[in-house]
Amino acid sequence: MKIGVDYYPEQWDRELWKADADLMARTGVRLVRIGEFAWSRLEPKDGEFDFTWLDEAISNFSRHAMGIVLCTPTSCPPLWMYETYPDIVQVGADGSRLQTGIRAHRCLNAPMFLYYAKRITEQLAKRYANNPAIAAWQIDNELESYPCTCEECRGLFRDWLIDKYDDLNNINAAFGNIVWSGEYSDISQIQPPNAYPKAWQNPALCLEYSRFSADMTAKFANDMAMIIKRENPRAKVTTNTLFSENTPDFYKLFSNLDFVSYDNYPPVRLTDDEGMSSSHAFYLDMMRGVKQKNFWVMEQLSGPTGSWMPMGPTPRPGQIKGYALQAMAHGADTVMHFRWRTANKGAEMYWHGLIDHSNVPGRRFNEFAELCRIAPKLSVIETTELVSDVAILYSHDNAAAFRIQPQTEGFSYFEQLRYFHAAFSKYGVNVDIVPPDSDLSKYKAVVAPSMYVYDKNSAENIYRYVIKGGTVIMTARSGVKDPCNNCIMEPLPTVYREMIGAEVSEYDPIGKEEQTIVDFAGNSYKCRQWCDILELGTARAYAEYRDSFYSGKPAVTMNRYCSGVAYYIGTVCHMDFYEKFAGNIMKQTGIPRLKDLPKGVEVTTRTNGLDDYIFFFNNSEQEADITLPKAMFSILDDTEKDKLKLKPFDMEIVRK
Ligand code: GAL
Repeated sequence: MKIGVDYYPEQWDRELWKADADLMARTGVRLVRIGEFAWSRLEPKDGEFDFTWLDEAISNFSRHAMGIVLCTPTSCPPLWMYETYPDIVQVGADGSRLQTGIRAHRCLNAPMFLYYAKRITEQLAKRYANNPAIAAWQIDNELESYPCTCEECRGLFRDWLIDKYDDLNNINAAFGNIVWSGEYSDISQIQPPNAYPKAWQNPALCLEYSRFSADMTAKFANDMAMIIKRENPRAKVTTNTLFSENTPDFYKLFSNLDFVSYDNYPPVRLTDDEGMSSSHAFYLDMMRGVKQKNFWVMEQLSGPTGSWMPMGPTPRPGQIKGYALQAMAHGADTVMHFRWRTANKGAEMYWHGLIDHSNVPGRRFNEFAELCRIAPKLSVIETTELVSDVAILYSHDNAAAFRIQPQTEGFSYFEQLRYFHAAFSKYGVNVDIVPPDSDLSKYKAVVAPSMYVYDKNSAENIYRYVIKGGTVIMTARSGVKDPCNNCIMEPLPTVYREMIGAEVSEYDPIGKEEQTIVDFAGNSYKCRQWCDILELGTARAYAEYRDSFYSGKPAVTMNRYCSGVAYYIGTVCHMDFYEKFAGNIMKQTGIPRLKDLPKGVEVTTRTNGLDDYIFFFNNSEQEADITLPKAMFSILDDTEKDKLKLKPFDMEIVRK
């Protein structure tokens, strides 16, 4: 397991580089990421390249046997480029160009930007792709699906649509453009969805534009990776990703890259707000699910956050080390801390690194050093991975479509995923979060929350899984839309109706109002946001409504279908319901459960097929006591233990 840091040689004097490299080496840092914002130093003038400082920076660290993650600097074009080619800057929804002078404002489709981006990437690849110090490459930085509306993007979007639909008649039909006389009679009339008010835009157009932007972002990353691979086909190429308003389509973004890397900033204050009740581990599991492989953390929390927002609290004792180990417990093989030292200039001076402005390594640094010290003990888990009995399906299309039409007050696609994640995780099992069209045969239970936009492969995949004996859990707002984001004219959940064995006779989008449901065992739970009023076909009621004119009607159903079982939850509840429900599903599908884990304790297992390593992470501010079923060998302490006492944010890893 490697621990690394993010470093900005271009921001510091040479003397500091040396001192920093010495201290890194003494601390046990194995990797250093550099270069993602340094284009103006690499190409100070059009076509004049200067790599001497980068050569020096690389050898400054590689001299100490540290590997380098070299980034392409395309997220920060130099100002001379913006000046010469103003149309490389993105255009916002209001039609005006963004202001330059900060970062990431380039349009990924602008021809002159692409010309320069390819050229600098090629220059770097030619010079460094075969340098043994380079451990991996990062393309750009936090690529998003930018909703740019410049002329170039408009043109490409039109081509993209024609490519998909062949002609304007098909586009008009698919978008339902007759509504409000929106029919295109000329291709030039196709515009990105930026008319005002936003909520009145055509959902079909919006979803296609979001898919187009996601495709173009993935294409950019892929094209840049190919340039590097041309020089060295064995080069390991990634890009660091994040969750944001313009979250990229992770599945597409990484489809041709070697591994996923994620920027991991868990909140340092734990909350009792149940909407946030699943831990940050949710995002880690999601990152592992993108390629269904272990991943890297390219940026890891190192201090108080801040800068473009008010500063947040400093990480509690234990969190610097604990959250890095938590990432490993969920499949990270390498964790790089952002950043080695806190910037003292520039917009990000209050986003703290490991070393503060004081330049005196302190409490957080010492904890990081402790992490580096134990990292070699984790080498036994390098060849391990998480094998899960439970999967949750995440679809980028569904996430985008719900962002376009939020359904009802409080309804959140991600919240549903998080509830199920938290509910199953509470029993100490691994949970995968994977694409809906991935191989489901290995899972004992699959949760498919709100399968809103129909996708043939995914629907067939879910059916196939249940037909062959799987247990699926679906929820309200499934089967609502066709692939163009138009409503399907059939009783809900339309394509899934046969498998669910029940249909929605009517729905009630109750928003923040609360009602009650009662399950077959007489337990009652609050429900909210959405109520599907269900009519049973072959299904049986698992829970019924107790309020409103549909009191007594099924809210949750269970249906035996072929060799499998399909549940349908027609409403949204609170954590108590999901926890109990997950427990029942695990009982019925034979998934072993750890009961009575102390609050906040997270348990996952990594295996190499021979040995299982169990991670116990105390993600709470209280000490936790755990009794193991038998004595197990701690790989951190090299001792046998049958009881664990974990301080807040402590991790223990035992061999089963
Ligand atoms: C990330 C970004 C970094 C830095 C960091 C902290 O999103 O990739 O460059 O800005 O956040 O602010």
